[in-house]
Amino acid sequence: MLDPYEVRKDFPILSVRRSDGKPLVYLDNAATSLKPRYVIEAIVEYYERYTVNVHRGVYRLSQEATEMYEDSRERIARFIGVSPSELIFVKNTTEAINLVAYGLDWNPGDEIITTVMEHHSNLVPWQMVRDRYGVKLRFLDITGGGTLDLEKLPDILSERTRLIALTHISNVLGTVNPVDDIARIARKNDILLLVDAAQSVPHIPVDARRIGCDFLAFSGHKMLGPTGIGCLYIRRGVEDQVKPVFTGGEMVRRVSLDRSTWNDMPWRMEPGTPNVAGAIGLAAAVDYLSRLGMDKVRSYEDRLTEYTLRRLSEIEDVTIYGPRDTRFRSGIAAFNVGSIDPHDVALLLDELENIAVRSGVHCAEPLHARLGLTGTVRASLYIYNTMEEIDILCDTLKKIVETLA
Ligand SMILES: Cc1ncc(COP(=O)(O)O)c(C=O)c1O
Repeated sequence: MLDPYEVRKDFPILSVRRSDGKPLVYLDNAATSLKPRYVIEAIVEYYERYTVNVHRGVYRLSQEATEMYEDSRERIARFIGVSPSELIFVKNTTEAINLVAYGLDWNPGDEIITTVMEHHSNLVPWQMVRDRYGVKLRFLDITGGGTLDLEKLPDILSERTRLIALTHISNVLGTVNPVDDIARIARKNDILLLVDAAQSVPHIPVDARRIGCDFLAFSGHKMLGPTGIGCLYIRRGVEDQVKPVFTGGEMVRRVSLDRSTWNDMPWRMEPGTPNVAGAIGLAAAVDYLSRLGMDKVRSYEDRLTEYTLRRLSEIEDVTIYGPRDTRFRSGIAAFNVGSIDPHDVALLLDELENIAVRSGVHCAEPLHARLGLTGTVRASLYIYNTMEEIDILCDTLKKIVETLA
């Protein structure tokens, strides 16, 4: 079993950020994670000892930097069960989804299926595609229990469905969606499948090939890595359907004044100087998570999630959203405290006990509208969170209820 107290020693911020002597209780991991020393040092090492550009120089230092960059790609690709040529470095999940949205050729009347529980990153790009190319958007609803209403999928599938784009794990409800089942349906109907894995790759073992999706997107900063780096998996076989959205240096093979030909995958999709330090930092994060073991990460978080849901549900006036069963849920707990404004709850948690949670609609406004809510408080967990911290959260919430409700 993973020992969060051992893990905590690796995260410098946990010992340096105190407020009035109170340690930081960081429960906003769905927004971004903290960074272990190992990742920070890998980035510093690159800047101190390598720092030069990749893929360009014949001198040894440039060769070494290129090797580090490509070796990072290999380690990250292995982590999600794909080959390095299928893994493109991008800025974040948002950019990855946009690359697919604008890279595919759309015909008027094509249809895209997404869901009401998406993060804006996996909704707004499809709205843009709809408006630009005359594509139709269809939405899969949720059940009262906060899971996808898969029974309704046949009703919205049609011969014109080109793509299903959905989140693996909801960043509000914590729902773990059955992406394998959806992949089977997509394959059977010759439909492309994009999985937004921003909340899954950091927390559960994810094997993109085993899922059987065509595209999978995730961000480094939510999985112990640095900001400004993320990945887009494009399954071998579909890459020619996604034309490069951004063009320029490095992504080309031959260029004349008149025309250009594209480089091989994955470099075809990476124009310009890449985020070398970011890739190295993310690979270090992947090494760190692999050493812990993703199965252990998942089982520890499941246990902590169960504890969190139980403790929260003991507080009068607290309403929790999303499935209760941790087989269908990850460590994200969105809730409300009576009719107290979620921002007030978050401000008080911070002020009283140095607890960081998110409040508002968490970039999922349509989901909140669907639930008839204007906002929620969200506590989201990771490997360094402890039951003690959940106790601090719940005891403070009780105080808030007593004072304000
Ligand atoms: C499910 C989901 N998709 C996409 C994103 C966007 O990630 P990024 O801001 O790193 O692009 C997030 C971020 O919270 C998310 O939770």
